[in-house]
Amino acid sequence: MAHYQGLIHRYRNRLPVTESTPVVSLNEGNTPLIELRNFTQRIGFDGRLLVKFEGLNPTGSFKDRGMTMAVTKALEGGSRAIICASTGNTSAAAAAYAARAGITSFVLIPDGKIALGKLAQAMMHGAIVLQIQGNFDDGMRLVQEIAAEMPIALVNSVNPYRLQGQKTIAFEIIEALGDAPDYHVLPVGNAGNISAHWMGYSEAVGQQTAACGLCEGQCPYLGGPAMATRRPVMLGYQASGAAPFLRGGPVAEPETVATAIRIGNPMSWHLAWAAVRESGGWFDECGDAAILETQKLLAQTEGVFCEPSSATSLAGFIQDLKRGKIRSGATVVATLTGHGLKDPDTAIAQSPQPHRVVAQRQAITHLIQQYL
Ligand code: F0G
Repeated sequence: MAHYQGLIHRYRNRLPVTESTPVVSLNEGNTPLIELRNFTQRIGFDGRLLVKFEGLNPTGSFKDRGMTMAVTKALEGGSRAIICASTGNTSAAAAAYAARAGITSFVLIPDGKIALGKLAQAMMHGAIVLQIQGNFDDGMRLVQEIAAEMPIALVNSVNPYRLQGQKTIAFEIIEALGDAPDYHVLPVGNAGNISAHWMGYSEAVGQQTAACGLCEGQCPYLGGPAMATRRPVMLGYQASGAAPFLRGGPVAEPETVATAIRIGNPMSWHLAWAAVRESGGWFDECGDAAILETQKLLAQTEGVFCEPSSATSLAGFIQDLKRGKIRSGATVVATLTGHGLKDPDTAIAQSPQPHRVVAQRQAITHLIQQYL
């Protein structure tokens, strides 16, 4: 069968699965790596800047990469239910993959601080949605306690299978570019994703990424398999109101417009620090205004609509570029973690209102002329 069937199928030999593992997949992964030209010119960067658009996964975020593995392994282990705390995207992915597997999902989300699209997804896929009077960190503590005493599989990124699935993003990038980029920039919340990226890049040094299984040797559609000779410098960006990595410890009341990364006590603290240190990279923070401005600039110069949290990667990059911290002529990949459609409220709130016009040709041509 020569069509793409998801990342477990593609990277079977690099993931903890066997022939008898019951794979739960929505054909996630294989997302586009898009080279930015207008945006790059606008920000005055003389290198190559590419975005890995994870918003084009089946539920609209990178979480699908981890969830296909976590739910597959939960099913293999005999679980009939899964649970997670979430700022929105994990709950959407958990709900969808649980539906696909025919098992129950419980999702704990912070009261009133979740983007509308994500809530709609969890509800539509039939998750049991528990809106808690607390933030993500409270939810995270609760689901760990609950999963320890009830027969429910925890599918947050403390579940090691999540990072296994998410590491495959690095394989795809190496296959597309022929090697690792010079820098990889991404937003950091609970810190699982930066840890998974680093794991993927590390595992691809000197080792073939995939035995595709679809074609003999080089796949005409997907390229690869490929091998990396090096690893990128990892740059992790946080929103200023939710920046524990910059403060040196947990933040009690995290706050940011980028609700996906509104997290004060990241679970993968040590792994993320290891990724940044070993790669010679750093963490930095951006303000909400810069995040929203970057989200809009990307949407309007490139036609790529990501959610605010995702734009944090490029907002941080622009800041470091201005400060002269990025090497001239470098190849840079930014992970755009989620689709802009996830959070329509924030998008609409920062855009001009539509023109209200009578349904008459003359009124409309008059208006159009103002823009020609
Ligand atoms: N970007 C988006 C769109 C996210 O949804 C998240 C995390 C991140 C970035 C940060 O990734 O946590 O691995 O450092 N969202 C989680 C959730 C917390 O519940 O959906 P991270």
